[in-house]
Amino acid sequence: MWFLTRLCRLFDIKNQVDPKRRLKRETGVMMKIVSIVGARPQFVKAAPVSKALRRRHHEFLVHTGQHYDEEMSQIFFDELEIPRPDMNLGVGSGSHARQTADMLVGIEKIINQQQPDIVFIYGDTNSTLAGAIAASKLQVCVAHVEAGLRSYNRMMPEEINRIMADKISTFLFCPTKSAVGNLGREGIIDGVYHTGDVMIDALLQFSELAQKRSAIMDKLNLKDKDYILLTLHRAQNTDSSANMTNIVNALVHCKKNIIFPVHPRTKKYLDEYGLMGKLSDAGNLRLIAPISYLDMIMLEKHAEKIVTDSGGVQKEAYFFKVPCITMRGETEWVETVQDGWNILVGADYESIVMAIRDFNPSTEQHQHYGDGTASHNICSILEKEIKS
Ligand code: UD1
Repeated sequence: MWFLTRLCRLFDIKNQVDPKRRLKRETGVMMKIVSIVGARPQFVKAAPVSKALRRRHHEFLVHTGQHYDEEMSQIFFDELEIPRPDMNLGVGSGSHARQTADMLVGIEKIINQQQPDIVFIYGDTNSTLAGAIAASKLQVCVAHVEAGLRSYNRMMPEEINRIMADKISTFLFCPTKSAVGNLGREGIIDGVYHTGDVMIDALLQFSELAQKRSAIMDKLNLKDKDYILLTLHRAQNTDSSANMTNIVNALVHCKKNIIFPVHPRTKKYLDEYGLMGKLSDAGNLRLIAPISYLDMIMLEKHAEKIVTDSGGVQKEAYFFKVPCITMRGETEWVETVQDGWNILVGADYESIVMAIRDFNPSTEQHQHYGDGTASHNICSILEKEIKS
């Protein structure tokens, strides 16, 4: 039977049969899935989805190796109880071209070996793009989790990754209604579903565990609402010495107690620009190594404010009703700004200082990001699709 199905598949590929049609004909109820992850936020997104998929389907998990330090990778697998990757491509760091190219070669090989019915990709990293290209060129269905987000800033490598991945994905699972609207404006309508955000699933699933297991508040001797949490790693900021100088000056000037888990990329640039000494001498900033997901949840929940240039952290701040100051000119999570809980300050010295001092929203919030059932919705949609 297996042999016959695979033979059919080879025939379909040769004759350019639509991958979605093949998904229906071949799989029956159980799907064989290859999931591609590689960078820190993808481990968080994949955790609830993988759990939901594995209840009824077979998943082969691929780690591209984009993030490789213990505290950027392994700790997430341990804490979130994500099964060990079946394959680690070990691509490591490098230029965008080298990193993506190495991933492409590795993923293509795995798809040829595993012959999956569908390939899952997450978010907007180079691992996302490589997964989308490799699978679609082999005429395998691509499911993009967190589809449709746009910053409309093509200076961001993530924006290029999103646009490309969405163009060639078969199933586009959108976290928000605005993401569905973004795709519609680009003429992408087929296969688009509003599912809610899998990061909210993860937050709801792991918040209680974080409360029980994380000792970070005691370890750092922190009190509720008595510190500001800072994250900073976007290329737009880190790769510009002018932006980094403005940000560092603003943080030092505000004299607030700031906790700063430092991403390895940021550390590299702070050293290069000679700003590390200024930060560590300032007295109000505590620089710590990158932290785990459970520790991050606790630090976010108890922060007075969060200053960040991350995507996911903006939503987590909104979820915990913590004012968020975003050091970017735009955001994909527009609802957080529209509701008044997030303010965009770029890398502007004055705006950062003022927001840290004065930004205190108290407006009503809405359930823009779903109710924690996004992973379940994704599974149900695919299962319905197979049977239809
Ligand atoms: C990547 C994603 C970004 C995501 C972020 C989450 C792309 C284009 N960017 O950015 O969307 O928000 O992950 O963290 O895919 N490094 C280490 N150890 C590691 C990983 C990285 O030291 O385990 C250092 C290396 O010096 C590397 C640099 O960090 O050159 C940047 O890593 P890279 O994977 O290129 O991108 P991120 O900045 O992490």
